[in-house]
Amino acid sequence: MNNPVMTASGTFGYGSEFETLVDLNRLGAIIVKGLSLKPAMGNKPPRIVETPSGMLNAIGLENIGIDVFEREKLPFLRQLTTPVILNMYGKTINEYARLASRINDISGVSGIEVNISCPNIKAGGIAFGVDPDAAYEVVSAVREKTSLPMIVKLSPNVTDITAIAHRVEEAGADAISLINTVTGMAIDVETRRSRLANITGGLSGPAIKPIALRMVWQVSQTVNIPVIGIGGIMEAKDALEFLIVGATAIQVGTANLVNPRATMDIIDGIEAFLEKKKIGDIKEIVNSLIISQ
Ligand SMILES: Cc1cc2nc3c(=O)[nH]c(=O)nc-3n(C[C@H](O)[C@H](O)[C@H](O)COP(=O)(O)O)c2cc1C
Repeated sequence: MNNPVMTASGTFGYGSEFETLVDLNRLGAIIVKGLSLKPAMGNKPPRIVETPSGMLNAIGLENIGIDVFEREKLPFLRQLTTPVILNMYGKTINEYARLASRINDISGVSGIEVNISCPNIKAGGIAFGVDPDAAYEVVSAVREKTSLPMIVKLSPNVTDITAIAHRVEEAGADAISLINTVTGMAIDVETRRSRLANITGGLSGPAIKPIALRMVWQVSQTVNIPVIGIGGIMEAKDALEFLIVGATAIQVGTANLVNPRATMDIIDGIEAFLEKKKIGDIKEIVNSLIISQ
């Protein structure tokens, strides 16, 4: 990777949508919208609602499926120098394993990000991400089927994130990314209905950054594999906060929907910070949190 700035799954389409807006070759990595074996329709609208300092979404992992992705989207991505990482999910362990095996045979893919943390689908997804043993099983099953670098994406909707992270590392993950969205609700008082057809949704954006920072810090103290920080990163300063608490890379999500050039601004801002502070290697910042005075 050229730099530690990646796109968070589901907020950057399949990459090509941003072609005219950002220099895709400047990104650290592109992570595409979560893919499944078969195309998925997702949930009924309304699926998005703005909330203070963030948004709720209940897309429900709508996607074009791995076959259409390979045929129609990957040829464009293969022309880039930027590593392309496929975010993936299944409804059962068997589906996760079959999809991992399918992706393993595709050329032009640099890695996978296994989503065991989506709060918006009824089966699978989060069911694996909230139980340490279930997480171990699904990650082991994927590990058996792929030699690609494997990132496992964790849910914040748990009591002890370190217990999940520990088991995911044991199951053979090469890196851990966190956090996915925080389950939430928004209500219309006139109609007394939820503002989302799915009733609940996943909260993202600046509202979740303090939670994400705390969890990234806890997990980076627990595991020996790299940790990728996600959650409310809107500008370079936010990204630097994640690096300081132990992340070696970060992903930009909701910010892309507000400022499509957010990733470029963040890369520029990190560079400017390093120059200003005369820091030659970004690794000097990683895990540099000062606890006592
Ligand atoms: C509209 C939307 C769609 C998303 N779709 C996915 C997805 O398909 N797979 C996944 O792992 N995470 C998905 N996420 C979660 C983001 O990748 C990210 O983990 C989360 O939004 C927190 O980061 P942020 O605050 O920077 O947005 C989605 C988020 C949003 C807002």
